[in-house]
Amino acid sequence: MKWRHLRLARRLIWRPSSTRGQLTFQYTVVFSLLLFLAAGLLYFTLNWILFWNVDNELQNEAALVKQYIHFDQGKPVFDAGAASESQSYDPRTIFNVSEILNNEGIPVKSSPELTAFGYSVEPGVLKSLLAMKPPPAFTTEGRRDEQMRFINTVLRGPADHRYLMRIGTRLKPINDAQDTFLWVMLMLLPVTVVFSAIFGSVMAKRTLKPVTDMTHAARAISASNLSRRLPTRGRRDELDELAETFNAMIARLQQSFAKMNEFAANVSHELRTPLQAMQGETELALIARAPLGECRRVLESNLEEIERLNRMIRNLLVLAQADAGEMRPRLEAMDLNELVRDLVEQMRAVAQARNVDLRAETSNPVPLRADSLRLRQMVLNLIDNAVKYTPPGGRIEVRVERAALAHGRSEARLLVRDTGIGIAAEDLPFIFDRFYRADKSRTRSAAGVEGCGLGLPIVKWVAETHGGSVEVSSHPNQGSSFVVHLPLAPVLAKTKTTQRSPEADPREAGTAAKGGASRVGVA
Ligand SMILES: Nc1ncnc2c1ncn2[C@@H]1O[C@H](COP(=O)(O)OP(=O)(O)O)[C@@H](O)[C@H]1O
Ligand SMILES: [Mg+2]
Repeated sequence: MKWRHLRLARRLIWRPSSTRGQLTFQYTVVFSLLLFLAAGLLYFTLNWILFWNVDNELQNEAALVKQYIHFDQGKPVFDAGAASESQSYDPRTIFNVSEILNNEGIPVKSSPELTAFGYSVEPGVLKSLLAMKPPPAFTTEGRRDEQMRFINTVLRGPADHRYLMRIGTRLKPINDAQDTFLWVMLMLLPVTVVFSAIFGSVMAKRTLKPVTDMTHAARAISASNLSRRLPTRGRRDELDELAETFNAMIARLQQSFAKMNEFAANVSHELRTPLQAMQGETELALIARAPLGECRRVLESNLEEIERLNRMIRNLLVLAQADAGEMRPRLEAMDLNELVRDLVEQMRAVAQARNVDLRAETSNPVPLRADSLRLRQMVLNLIDNAVKYTPPGGRIEVRVERAALAHGRSEARLLVRDTGIGIAAEDLPFIFDRFYRADKSRTRSAAGVEGCGLGLPIVKWVAETHGGSVEVSSHPNQGSSFVVHLPLAPVLAKTKTTQRSPEADPREAGTAAKGGASRVGVA
C-alpha cells in the first residue's frame, strides 16, 4: 500500500526525459535544497548570536542596577549617588528604562522611556509572570515592530517582600537585521537557483560529451564499415571502459560477419560445383541423344551427387541448429564399447572395398550418459575419415577405453588411429573449422574421396555438448590419430562395471559376459 503511494508520488514528480535534463534537474534540486538548508542554519545562528548578545547585556545591566537598590520601609529605592558617570554602564540611564512591580503586578516604579518605546503595561501578563516562581529570566513582549526584550530580576526586601524588576531593551535592531537577512536571501535564492540550473546544465553537457561523441561514432558504424572503432580518451575511466567494451563487441560482430560471408561463399561453392557437373552431364546426354545405357549412367552419377548434397545439407542443418542452441543432447545410459563395435562392423565392408584393415579394440563396457544418435554420428565421421584418407594396404585401429585421470577420476576415451596420408602441421589447427579441407584437389580426386569439411566440426560439437573434447595428432604420410575424451556416467563410474546399476543398459550384460577384447578384422 505504502509502496503504491510512493510510486504514484514518484510518477507525479516531473522529470526531464533526457539524461542531460535529468542531471541538470537533480543538480539544481540538490543545490537549491542545500542552499535553503544553509540559509536556514545561518538565520538561526544569527538569531542566536544576536539574542545571546542582548541577553548578556541585559544581565550585566540588571546586576549593576541591583547594586544601587536598597529597601526603605519595605520599598525598593534606587540611589545612584555613589556611581560615577564615567562608567561605561551608567546605572541611572539603565534604571530609566526599567520598571518595578509589586506582588500584585502593580508598578511601584514605571518608566516613561519604556512607554515612549511603545511599551504598554499589560497587567494580566505581568500577574501571570509574577505567579511563576521563579519567573522566566528573559521575556519578549510587544508587537513585532516594537518588540522588547526584558530581563526579570526578583528583588527580595525585608519581611519577605518580593518585587520584580524588569529592565527592557528594544529589539528593533535585531528585527531589522533579521528582516534584512531574509530579504537578501529571498532575492538571492531565485538567482542562485537559476545560476545553479545553468551551471548544472553546462556541467551535465561536459560530463556527457564523451557519451554523445560515442553515440555519433557508434551511429556511423554499420554493417559495411565494421572495421571502425570508437575513440578512447586514454583516461582508463568508466567511459573508456564502455568504449572498449563496445569496440570488443564490434570486433566480435565483425568476426562473425566475416565468418558468415565465408560460410555463405563456401556453401555456394560446395553447391555450385556438383550442380554444374550434374547440369553439364545431363545437358550433354540430352543434346547427344545418348543411348539408354549412357542416360542411366548419368542418372546414377547424378543420384550419387544428389545424395552427397543431401548429406551436406543435413550436416549443415545439424550445425545450424547446434549454433542456435536448439540441439540438446538426449542423454541416456549407454555403452560406448557396444556402439563402437556396431559401427566398426557396419564400416567393415567399406574399408574392405578399399583394402584397408579396420580393427576395433574393445574391452570392458564403458558406460556413458549420452545421446547415442549424436555419438554414432561422431564415431562414424571419424571412422569415415580414417577410411577415406588411408590408402589401400593401410591399417585403422579403433579403441575404446576407460582412462584414469588425476585425483582418482577416470574418463571414457575413444581412439581412431590410421596409417593414412596424415595432415600437414599447417592444416592441423583448422581441420575442425567448417568447410576446411586440407587439400581439396587431392582429396576429391583421390579415389573418389568425397566430403565437404563438415565432418570434424560435427565431431567437435558432439564431443563438446557431452562435456568432452577431441584432440588430433598427425604426421604427413605416417597417419593420424584422433582422441575423443568423454566423461563417464556418474553413477556407473563409481559402481564399476561388475556391479551394474538397475538403470544400466540391459545390453551391457551381453558385452560384460563376453568380456575381453573383440576384434573385427578386415582383410
Ligand atoms: N584421418 C584423417 N587423415 C588425414 N586427414 C584427415 C583425416 N581426418 C580428417 N582429415 C583432414 O581434415 C579435413 C576435414 O575433415 P572433415 O571435416 O571430416 O571433412 P571431409 O571428411 O568432408 O573432408 C579433411 O578434408 C582432411 O583433409
Ligand atoms: Mg569427414
